[in-house]
Amino acid sequence: MIEISNLSKHYGDTRAVDGISFSIQKGQILGFLGPNGAGKTTTVRIVTGFLPPTSGTVNVDGHDVVADSIEVRKRIGYLPENTPLYTEMNVVDYLRFIVDMRKNGVTDTNRRIKAVIDQCGLGDVVHKDIGELSKGYRQRVGLAQAMVHDPPILILDEPTVGLDPNQIVEIRKLIIELGREKTVILCSHILPEVEATCARVVIIHNGRIAADGSPKELQASSEGKGAVYVQIKGASIEFSQRLAVIPGVERVTDSKSMSDGVCSFELSTFKGSDPREGVFRACVDNGMVLLEMSRKEVSLEDVFRNLTKQEAA
Ligand SMILES: Nc1ncnc2c1ncn2[C@@H]1O[C@H](COP(=O)(O)OP(=O)(O)OP(=O)(O)O)[C@@H](O)[C@H]1O
Ligand SMILES: [Mg+2]
Repeated sequence: MIEISNLSKHYGDTRAVDGISFSIQKGQILGFLGPNGAGKTTTVRIVTGFLPPTSGTVNVDGHDVVADSIEVRKRIGYLPENTPLYTEMNVVDYLRFIVDMRKNGVTDTNRRIKAVIDQCGLGDVVHKDIGELSKGYRQRVGLAQAMVHDPPILILDEPTVGLDPNQIVEIRKLIIELGREKTVILCSHILPEVEATCARVVIIHNGRIAADGSPKELQASSEGKGAVYVQIKGASIEFSQRLAVIPGVERVTDSKSMSDGVCSFELSTFKGSDPREGVFRACVDNGMVLLEMSRKEVSLEDVFRNLTKQEAA
């Protein structure tokens, strides 16, 4: 459905996108992840035909985005990072205005507007001015404008930014529902959101692809293969040096002093190793009490941080 080959975009000396390639099958929900400034928005603006690439090509359903941008735009619904909404228009008038302005082949305008109002849960606010709507409802209007011409592809750039937890759950449900019949690209840095909605994840970092696979595959291939969390009574922070030399422990990733002479530690472990018995014995040998010990699986968040930590540093 979408084929991106060797795509680059330079802004002066900044290589915002630096030779990326991947393709998306019909009906797939793809999570497009990366830290701030990684190149997500730049990439999707090229895919939607709003921005020309410096080099490389994007093909959407057989149409080149540069040579054939009108055909491409007909097939794509785009929710930009900041949806430009006309605050003095009411919801229905705004959606009608969008259909008229874009001229992308909608013939049954009233029926389409009614359909997206239902799908996006806008029924109660159709005659309100957009300026009076809460942020969550404005985001729904943004989604409605992206879907009003019933495109087979939806590109959503950070669709849940600024929403409250209830609205986030609602929008996620809607995205999963839409993903049953449409091809979706979801740009995000909210990892639970991607884990909950996407079968495949592409991680971009400094304009290059750092990982591509299902959340499970990325977790399995990650370095730092696991972690153990412990709370020890009678230990000081310096006990981390003793924990660090237990067989199977790669390093101590976090040490905290809690109340009442209790410290907590997080240990990253080598692949396939289990240092829990060693931790227990180290506590006993030093007359300390092990209050809590648990094993943590690698999360998508760990994968993301491993791949992009140079940025954080
Ligand atoms: N119009 C522009 N002119 C110059 N540089 C730009 C422009 N737009 C983006 N950039 C730069 O390109 C790089 C990629 O930006 P982009 O907006 O694509 O990142 P992003 O992954 O969407 O980040 P975020 O998570 O913050 O939205 C950044 O270094 C950014 O400063
Ligand atoms: Mg962005």
